[in-house]
Amino acid sequence: MQRRKFLQLSTLIAPLLATKNAFSFSGTGVTKPIVISTWAPNVKANAEAWKTLSSGGRALDAVEAGVKIPEADPDDTSVGYGGLPDRDGIVTLDACIMDEFANIGSVMALENIMHPISVARLVMEKTPHVQLAGDGALQFALSMGFEKINLLTPGSEKAWKEWLKTSKYDPNRTNEEINKRIKNDEKHLPYPWPVAMNHDTIGMLAMDVNGNLSGACTTSGMAFKMRGRVGDSPIIGAGLFVDNEIGAATSTGVGEEVVRMCGSHTVVELMRQGYSPEIACRKAVERIVKLRGNKIKGIQVGFLALNKKGEFGGYSLEKGFNYAIQTNAGSKVYDGKYIKP
Ligand code: GLY
Repeated sequence: MQRRKFLQLSTLIAPLLATKNAFSFSGTGVTKPIVISTWAPNVKANAEAWKTLSSGGRALDAVEAGVKIPEADPDDTSVGYGGLPDRDGIVTLDACIMDEFANIGSVMALENIMHPISVARLVMEKTPHVQLAGDGALQFALSMGFEKINLLTPGSEKAWKEWLKTSKYDPNRTNEEINKRIKNDEKHLPYPWPVAMNHDTIGMLAMDVNGNLSGACTTSGMAFKMRGRVGDSPIIGAGLFVDNEIGAATSTGVGEEVVRMCGSHTVVELMRQGYSPEIACRKAVERIVKLRGNKIKGIQVGFLALNKKGEFGGYSLEKGFNYAIQTNAGSKVYDGKYIKP
């Protein structure tokens, strides 16, 4: 009797709870479609992805369309066109994509192409391979009809020239140098390049009306990096991972720290063990701290995850990480929790 009353009451109040906080998912069943992206400015990317998701389209098409927005935005200095170049003044792009069938495609150090994510998708769909790099990736893109363009905008060129004046490139974060500094109790030198704290790589995860997951990740990488440097973003399992039974995860921040612990795959495996997206992201961040201790002072890494119920969460090493969500309830930006005060 008591149980029946409780069930009747639950039926009555559940819709009210859903209205009060449409982004709170406990007791409201699976939330789909849904799209989530690293960093607040990517509400615009989510809005583009939403056009596909809200009309019943596939998550894979949604994430590709979504991340093309920052890729084409000259004012986004960490993704695509307008991205800050390497230390030689050349913009090189990394991107990957993964669908519900574990199909994967990736391009690394791709130059002169506006939409690396679309090239990554074609690597997935039109080649027997999963990753293409450098000149080979460019050659493939051109063979697929992509236009060759100059990715270095006047703004990015100016920033690079400024950097050249004041910042001699000095790879002072080698293990050798870090260990010496720790031993001598010296302060860590900062990275010799700016690590954007309010935006960075876009990692986008989506679940469509059919409950299928896909993800995309695209970046111009670390500003003023060494020529040929590749980060986490085009590495499946590091910058992005999708398991259609469990959930999906993506990362942002200093890729070197994500690659060494297969970040996004780790987050998905933690969700498989039953952790919520937020706790899975937190545990992955804690793993970096455990592995690296004070070698990661001042470094930002953020993870973002989505599970099959449409629950999501993010966590980062440092303050400042945020992410954008779009569901039928609308668009919202969340501040991610972080480990360090
Ligand atoms: N997360 C972007 C990079 O490290 O290249």
